[in-house]
Amino acid sequence: MKKIITVLPGDGIGPEITEQAKNILEIVAEKFGHTFIFKQGFIGAAAITKKGNPYPDETHKLCIESDAILFGAIGDPKYDNDPHAQIRPEQGLLKMRKNLGLYANVRPIVTFEKLLASSPLKEEVIKGTDFVVIRELIGGIYFGKRGRNKSRTSAFDTSEYSKKEIERIGKFAFQLAQKRNKKLTVVDKANVLETSRLWRETIQMMELDYRDVIVNYMFVDNASMQIIKRPSEFDVIVTENMFGDILTDEASVITGSIGMLPSASIGEKTAVYEPIHGSFPKAAGKNTANPIGSILSAAMMLEYSFGMKQESDAMYKAVKQVINQGYGTKDLNLKKTVGTKELGEKIKKAI
Ligand code: IPM
Ligand code: MN
Repeated sequence: MKKIITVLPGDGIGPEITEQAKNILEIVAEKFGHTFIFKQGFIGAAAITKKGNPYPDETHKLCIESDAILFGAIGDPKYDNDPHAQIRPEQGLLKMRKNLGLYANVRPIVTFEKLLASSPLKEEVIKGTDFVVIRELIGGIYFGKRGRNKSRTSAFDTSEYSKKEIERIGKFAFQLAQKRNKKLTVVDKANVLETSRLWRETIQMMELDYRDVIVNYMFVDNASMQIIKRPSEFDVIVTENMFGDILTDEASVITGSIGMLPSASIGEKTAVYEPIHGSFPKAAGKNTANPIGSILSAAMMLEYSFGMKQESDAMYKAVKQVINQGYGTKDLNLKKTVGTKELGEKIKKAI
């Protein structure tokens, strides 16, 4: 198969980790007889510097004309520490998600046997964890009206969800649950928030169409506790944009390092594959960042966007093999700590 992949390295460690993922995609193409054509675009702080816009039109054009997008990371301390900045790198990522209609962010939380000891949580608690968080990605408080009063001494952000938006993400989650262990947990704050009550009402109606799926509803504060207390009891979690953002950083602790976690953002136009971690500016250019989140995101791309299950499995297997040999970046705390490039090379060789 011939596929066009746009790589958007972005900021911080983004360029280093996507480079490794790209190298591995190249070897997979060679091994399985595919042609992957890579294009590259600017996004985030890098795009502000070059074009004065965190998601320039030419980047959007590249995105819609490609078969999948491999995204690195976004964010720069220069902007984090300046609450007055009008143009911010993160706007690029949010604009890309919105313009491509990527409403479903799929974040699998799976443990590797060899990394159980790298987690600060007890091995017997996290063993066997295998769940997926479906985070709604283009609604809620991330995209609602926000602002300040005239004297700029008070501020507001609003969260809004329509029934249609909830049904769309609900359908995605129910269908995934049907393919997995048929357990769906809806995480909300329906004891306080009106949007959450609409979520509950809407998903409750949908239950009638998916009678084979067992649904339970959990408040987000309780969910944040249950996720690390009894992670193996979850199968599919569906939740709104901000709760999903927070809970998946928390859940990453189960896997030993946030550097391990991939994600897929799926919707109307070209899908985006990105690790869940941020740009980690302190590590940028130091060859220490963990490339596995990006590599596994590329593996998700092969499966979800291209239907290349065998190829995707080969990538997972290679990652597992290298970890089992005791190699990892320093965040993983394994026997043999290696750099970003070296770890990428090892995984490439394993394929
Ligand atoms: C993520 C990130 C982004 C988000 C930031 C960089 C805007 O934290 O993908 O989880 O909040 O969605
Ligand atoms: Mn996040």
